[in-house]
Amino acid sequence: MTSIGLNQLKQYLEYLNLSGVEDVYISKRQLPDPAIRLAELEEAFRNCTKCELHQERDKFVYGEGNPQARMVLIGEGPGAEENATGKPFIGKAGQLLTKMLQAINIERDDVYITNVVKCRPPNNRNPLSSEVQSCLPYLDEQLEIISPQLLLLLGRVAAESLLELDQPLKSYRGQTHEYKGITTYVTYHPSALLRNPAWKKFAWVDLQKVRDHYQQLDV
Ligand code: URA
Repeated sequence: MTSIGLNQLKQYLEYLNLSGVEDVYISKRQLPDPAIRLAELEEAFRNCTKCELHQERDKFVYGEGNPQARMVLIGEGPGAEENATGKPFIGKAGQLLTKMLQAINIERDDVYITNVVKCRPPNNRNPLSSEVQSCLPYLDEQLEIISPQLLLLLGRVAAESLLELDQPLKSYRGQTHEYKGITTYVTYHPSALLRNPAWKKFAWVDLQKVRDHYQQLDV
């Protein structure tokens, strides 16, 4: 049996889709176990109604990337483009995030990208703490399955939600934290960097630390 990488699988599925194929059945034996578990959970939760955010939802944005990633990136919540497509970080902020990763020699497909809340808060407001609490079990399950060695939290909402501290973002930076026993870095949310380009130099300091740590991880 030939084995293919996730990128090739994605390209092949896109090709099938363009050719008019809508349903593909894949034997569980041929997929890595974490991929199956994540896909099953996404399917199970995509009609979630645990909080009010489901009322204006188009798509539940579970997360995407390498199911066995060494690093998971966690943002705040889906925006308009993400809500429309079901994919995290694909709008302007997402494009900047992809560039930030490339600047530290990491491809988007190498990591797993998700958010604290999986449905778009109306008008991109910050998620309420009750909404975060409803949604966190999904994130915790994702982390348990992926079992990453590093987390990178993007912005204050992600930092506050996971680290349970109420401080300005800059005080989370420059040190590592721990979430569920996983070493955790915090940096600026790419949307904040789009609004305040002068902060990019600070984000670059954070990213270099993440890069150095990432390069030393077990493969
Ligand atoms: N901002 C986020 O926090 N997450 C996304 O997926 C997109 C924008």
